[in-house]
Amino acid sequence: MASEMKKQRMIYEGKAKKLWTVEGKPDLVIQEFKDDATAFNGEKKGSWAHKGEVNNQFACSMFELLETRGIRTHFVAKLSPIEMLIKRLEIVPLEVIVRNIAAGSFVKRYGAVEGTVFTVPTFEFSYKNDALGDPLINESHAMALKLATQTEIDHIHTEALKVNDILKSYLDKRGILLVDFKLEFGRHNDEILLGDEISPDTCRFWDKATRQKLDKDRFRQDLGNVEEAYAEILKRATEPIGA
Ligand code: TMP
Repeated sequence: MASEMKKQRMIYEGKAKKLWTVEGKPDLVIQEFKDDATAFNGEKKGSWAHKGEVNNQFACSMFELLETRGIRTHFVAKLSPIEMLIKRLEIVPLEVIVRNIAAGSFVKRYGAVEGTVFTVPTFEFSYKNDALGDPLINESHAMALKLATQTEIDHIHTEALKVNDILKSYLDKRGILLVDFKLEFGRHNDEILLGDEISPDTCRFWDKATRQKLDKDRFRQDLGNVEEAYAEILKRATEPIGA
């Protein structure tokens, strides 16, 4: 598969990824993961070894898991340690955030106590717009801005909660708490597919026993051992466990 897929032209370079067209395959894109990281809308910059590999491997494994559980995603194949082949999507400019435990902006915004476990997961959208700082947005505003239709929003909501159920239970068996995460969806022919990535950059993971942070918060909050935490979460999320 890898040898048949030739990178042609870079169509996007973001903070942590590059996207490339594929020679002779207009429906496909190569998503390449970089070792670079930013936080706080690009204000804080960093980079660490193997970050691209960890995120690519992690995302490939989670997309494969979700596909086996009936979630339609853009994932086609892992091409190399830092590259995956995906279907070309028209991204819906909404960051779809599900939370199981209070952390991050939820704590800042509402004065909640970090670590409070929610009885029912929360669901929110941010408007994916760097110039505006990705503001929180509600459904009616998203529709007024024509970012998505009611049908698309309802579908995204249902899928995001299904993804939460699947990942939360999968990770719990591996001693990991899924605190919260961000998803992106996109249009492909007449379908909405889960896109982007699922990785320690876009999720919060805590060790179940110690509540140690095993995600990008180690970089955001200068907690140290970022590279080690990424290696640890990949190992635990991908190693086979007894039946
Ligand atoms: P938040 O608590 O900062 O709103 O983040 C919620 C989740 O979304 C967390 O798992 C990290 C992820 N996230 C991104 O993937 N990209 C972003 O730009 C931000 C701000 C958060």
